[in-house]
Parts: sequence; C-alpha cells; structure tokens
Amino acid sequence: MHTKVRKAIIPAAGFGTRMLPATKSVPKELLPIVDRPILDYIVAEAFASGIEHVVIVTGRMKGAIEDYFDHAFEIDVSLRNAGKHGLADRMAQHTPGTGSISFVRQQQARGLGHAVWTARQIVGREPFAVLLPDMLMVDDKPCLQSMMELHGRHGGNVIAVEKCAPEEAHKFGIVSLKPTGDGPVVTGLVEKPAPGTAPSNLFISGRYILQPEIFDLLESQAPGAGGEIQLTDAMIALLGTQEIRPLEFCGRTFDCGSPAGFVSANLHMALARADLGASVDMEIETLAAARRAVA
Ligand code: UTP
Repeated sequence: MHTKVRKAIIPAAGFGTRMLPATKSVPKELLPIVDRPILDYIVAEAFASGIEHVVIVTGRMKGAIEDYFDHAFEIDVSLRNAGKHGLADRMAQHTPGTGSISFVRQQQARGLGHAVWTARQIVGREPFAVLLPDMLMVDDKPCLQSMMELHGRHGGNVIAVEKCAPEEAHKFGIVSLKPTGDGPVVTGLVEKPAPGTAPSNLFISGRYILQPEIFDLLESQAPGAGGEIQLTDAMIALLGTQEIRPLEFCGRTFDCGSPAGFVSANLHMALARADLGASVDMEIETLAAARRAVA
C-alpha cells in the first residue's frame, strides 16, 4: 500500500510574459476560458482526481487569485435577493471547501523548481502532485486521476507525457523509457534536445506526482537553463535513486500561456458547451465561408 497523494501544488507566480499586455495587471492564471478562469479548471481537476488540499504558489500582483477562491459574500447576497439562485449556486460550486486550499508566496520568481520548493512546509514529507496551471488537459477522465491510479499501483514518481511529431521534439523536455515486466519506466530526461537527437517523441507535459525527496534536491540546486531553478534538473537527479513512471496522456492539451493555445482552448471549451456550442459553431462557419470567398 503506497502513501496516498493528498496534496497538490499549483505554481502560479510566473510573470506570464507571453500573454502581455493582458498580464500586466491580471494574473495569467485568471484569464478566462469561456467564463471560468484557467486556474478554476485546474483546481477542479485536482479535486476531481482525489486531491484533498491544494496549495497555490502566488506572488506579487497575484492577490486576485486568493480572492477568486474565497466566498463572494456581497455578490451571493445580491444575486439571491434578486432571485438569481441558479447563478449564485453556480458560483458557490466553484468555491473550494473551507480549509481545502492554501496560498504561499514565492517572493522571487526564480523558476518552476523554486516555486514547487516554496510549498515544501505545507506539503511536508509525503508524495504530492504538481499541476501547471497554464496547461489545460481535457479528457473524459482527468489526467491527474489516471496518474494517481498508477501511483496507487506502483508508488514512486509519475509524470504525464504526450506524443509530439519527431521534428518538434527539440522544443520540449523529452523522456527516454525502458520497458519492464510491469510497464515502462523513465531512464532519462533531456530538455530541448538538439534536432535529430531526441531519444523519443514523448515530452513531459503539465502534471507530476513527486516524492518529497525532490524538495531536498531543489534546496541545494544551482540555477539551470535561463538562470532558473528547473524542476526537470531535480527530476534528473531523482532518477539516480527513485523510479519515475510515465503516464501517457492521450486527450487534448492546450498551452493557455500562449496566445494561440489560449484562443484554441476557448474555442474548444465553448464548442463543448450545450448553451454556447451551436452559436460558436455558426460563427466559425461564417468566418470560414468569408475566408473561402476571399481566397
Ligand atoms: P511558465 O514559464 O509557463 O510561466 O511556467 P511564466 O514564466 O509565467 O510564463 P512566460 O513564459 O513568461 O509567458 C509554468 C508555471 O510555473 C509558474 C508559472 O506561473 C506557470 O504557471 N512559475 C514559473 C512560478 O510559479 N514561478 C516561477 O518562478 C516560474
């Protein structure tokens, strides 16, 4: 029986420069996908997967994140007084239970690895999940839930991986794997391999289950690429002593931290909505017809 993964860290202290100027005053993680902040989908995935406590790593200019997950007393009262109970109930559904969410500040944005390390005292010495909030991963079953099941069978560390076209591999963190009697294990990780040298076409995606020893490695780790404390560097060091298993995610992933991924995610989620799908579909058809007429 392996120790249950109860806590998840969501690092949300980065500057979000790819989404400037929007992120000058609005945290990237609160930009909406249709009518919910990106971060709301990620927190929902964590709880739906069986996580009991979410730790969000924030920073300066990110105070609105904490407010979003609070009970909005004035709006709730005003909606209920106006008889708009459906809207008030929907808002309440997106507010986590009291005590199930904590916030910690990364006082300097020193990289993803440093952001994860910032939450070490809240997590303690137990396995934990990490969800990157700009990676919206859409499937019938939440990606993290499948990872928790794999962890339940084998323990150790689990990372989500996805297939990319071989000619795109130089843009990603790529894993090498070896088969074992009970499923593949990771043998190596390489950040942005030179074109033609990637050991596979499986890249590390936005979800992790990690053992607490990673905190010890991050504590003494020197800055890596971009002068930042990189989570991948700590995982490479972890490979020397612990097993990392891959969970291949086969759903759709949207990098909502980039303008193209953000727009695609909005279209995808709007099309999937019973109340919006038909009108958005009609708008897309109209735009496509206008483009065909010009061509
Ligand atoms: P990204 O590199 O995608 O986010 O980090 P970023 O730095 O905010 O975005 P760009 O590249 O400038 O557009 C992945 C996640 O890690 C968090 C980010 O908030 C993002 O959710 N992060 C990154 C931190 O919490 N702290 C950091 O020091 C760096």
